[in-house]
Amino acid sequence: MDNNKRPETMERITTKALADKFIEEQIAEVRAQVGDKKVLLALSGGVDSSVVAALLIKAIGKQLVCVHVNHGLMRKGESEAVIDMFGKELDANLVYVDATDRFLDLLAGVSDPEKKRKIIGAEFINVFADEARKLEGVAYLAQGTIYPDILESFKQAEGKKAVKSHHNVGGLPEDLKFELVEPLKLLFKDEVRVVGEALGLPHAMVYRQPFPGPGLGVRCLGAITRDRLHALREADAILREEFANCGLAEKVWQYFIAIPDIKSVGVKDESRYEGWPAIIRAINTTDAMTATIEEIPYDILHKITYRITHEVEGINRVLMDLTPKPIGTIEWE
Ligand code: XMP
Repeated sequence: MDNNKRPETMERITTKALADKFIEEQIAEVRAQVGDKKVLLALSGGVDSSVVAALLIKAIGKQLVCVHVNHGLMRKGESEAVIDMFGKELDANLVYVDATDRFLDLLAGVSDPEKKRKIIGAEFINVFADEARKLEGVAYLAQGTIYPDILESFKQAEGKKAVKSHHNVGGLPEDLKFELVEPLKLLFKDEVRVVGEALGLPHAMVYRQPFPGPGLGVRCLGAITRDRLHALREADAILREEFANCGLAEKVWQYFIAIPDIKSVGVKDESRYEGWPAIIRAINTTDAMTATIEEIPYDILHKITYRITHEVEGINRVLMDLTPKPIGTIEWE
């Protein structure tokens, strides 16, 4: 049997009871697979890696070593949330690596989006591999692979071209050939969320909007500078706060700010004030292959505009992107 293929008889996990059954099965399977060996996991804080972490903590406790690499491109408060949830609340074996300078130094002056993605992906593997080499007795690598990832790789094997290079920890160096533990690999995203809630993870974490592996690196357009990245992180935090306040966070599939590498003239305190524009993108989709834009009420847009231009240093305009996918992609990069 091809164990990368979802059996047609596999029931869709839609309830807590079905999730509990899945969790029990996976716990037994993982224990049988890994014995008393250690398992390493790159814990980004995204839905998939968080659910894998919670599942494996339940199955093997401290035999799981979670490594959270902060590449300096996380959203505001995200690394702190990972430390609070997994390091403190779930008492996981968590290694936190602040690699901000390593990433930002390598990215300095690089404006080509695919080059940026390659640098971030490769450096992620370097940092992760450095941490892995410090550990002893690790034989397995856990990954938050889900069924759409497997379907995507089938497509690529058939010779179809990927639109952009995605980010994961595959491709570790030769001396770190681990066997994989992928407990979610036959699940669709909605099932992963049901399993996550059944494991006791908070709703906000399990229903968190998607966030690309290269993080704010794909939204800080052109060559990343620390000041523009800081402005982006602060503006994005305001957008998320305002969407949460008015209920849009529950309704809109994905929403974020992108900042292009251009400045325009504005006026502040009766003086010339050159600044970047912050672009709001808020879309709805079912599978991320096509997307429509969410129509945000003007009063909310005015409030967001006011707050971003008054609270974030360096931003003097706020724009709204009305482009569907296709022709735009969801991300700007
Ligand atoms: P695009 O921009 O291609 O994005 O329309 C489609 C969806 O994919 C997300 N995205 C990523 N997710 N790693 C991920 O896990 C990545 O490298 C990556 N790049 C884009 C994007 O946020 C959108 O939801």
